[in-house]
Amino acid sequence: MTRTLTETPDDVAEAARLLRQGRLVAFPTETVYGLGADATNDTAVAAIYEAKGRPRFNPLIIHLPDIDSVHRYAVLDGPALALARAVWPGAMTLVLPLRRDAGLSPLVTAGLDSVAVRLPDLGLARRLLAAVGRPVAGPSANPSGRVSPTTAQHVIDGLGGRIDAVLDGGACGVGLESTIVGFDPAPTLLRPGGIAAETLAEHIGAPLARPGVNTQITAPGQLASHYAPNGTVRLNVTAPEPGETLLGFGPVGASLNLSPTGDLAEAAANLFRHLRRLDDMGVSRIAVSPVPETGLGLAINDRLRRAAAPR
Ligand code: TXA
Ligand code: MG
Repeated sequence: MTRTLTETPDDVAEAARLLRQGRLVAFPTETVYGLGADATNDTAVAAIYEAKGRPRFNPLIIHLPDIDSVHRYAVLDGPALALARAVWPGAMTLVLPLRRDAGLSPLVTAGLDSVAVRLPDLGLARRLLAAVGRPVAGPSANPSGRVSPTTAQHVIDGLGGRIDAVLDGGACGVGLESTIVGFDPAPTLLRPGGIAAETLAEHIGAPLARPGVNTQITAPGQLASHYAPNGTVRLNVTAPEPGETLLGFGPVGASLNLSPTGDLAEAAANLFRHLRRLDDMGVSRIAVSPVPETGLGLAINDRLRRAAAPR
């Protein structure tokens, strides 16, 4: 049985209590819902992998309520600190050197000497994190390989019965996972996401590097097939074929449109919801309008390419 908790102080306290007891609680952020567990508790973190059906142990993001608490777990200085001050709380995750005495479960970092950290920009999430008083590990709250959840109902649809509770904070405003930045050795865009790479480049006064071709692929979010709906997906379609259902962008005739006005933030917020809707409609062949490769379009196209990848 998965309980649904609301944003009342009593329910937030209950969600925090469950997390401190080592239970799994899905929680809202401005990007997508996360599947939370106490990041200092091995058994709790292992339960995340079990509930999601993640095939192997991959590093997880820890969620914290404020910059002060980041220093207890990670080394935050130089350009990383500049980005943190400019963007947090917000849709950005920083991969930072792990402090030796951090006390995190090694399952969180998959044995690496770095840790991914995020401060979500949602009052409910920050109240929860402050009440827990420990770092909360949180991958997206979906079964492995499926579309990330942007409502509490999406979480229940995918993980109902497998987790203890979901804290319902309504629909996520951004709708795409965070942008991930590493610093080994220079600021590098590890995953495009909910804040545009151009915005981050402005804050550090230089464009972000992109990972080299030899970068080891270590996480499901970086595997080719991911974010997969049930139907097949064909991209950059201006003229759908008979039998295809168009997922539109911009002023095109489509049963579902990411943003009729061509607004990328609106398209990001709608992407996962519309992919789920196409599943609910039983669509077997999805065609998608071209989406420009700038700003949030980088992250939208990244998720769409993975949805379209051979499975
Ligand atoms: O918006 C988000 O980031 C959401 C919400 C819940 O915060 N979380 C999320 O988590 O998308 P997840 O597990 O689906 O993706 C986390 C990604 C992994 O793909 C992994 O590549 C990267 O974070 N990651 C975590 N730790 C890392 C590390 N030490 N080094 C490099 N990449 C890391
Ligand atoms: Mg995910």
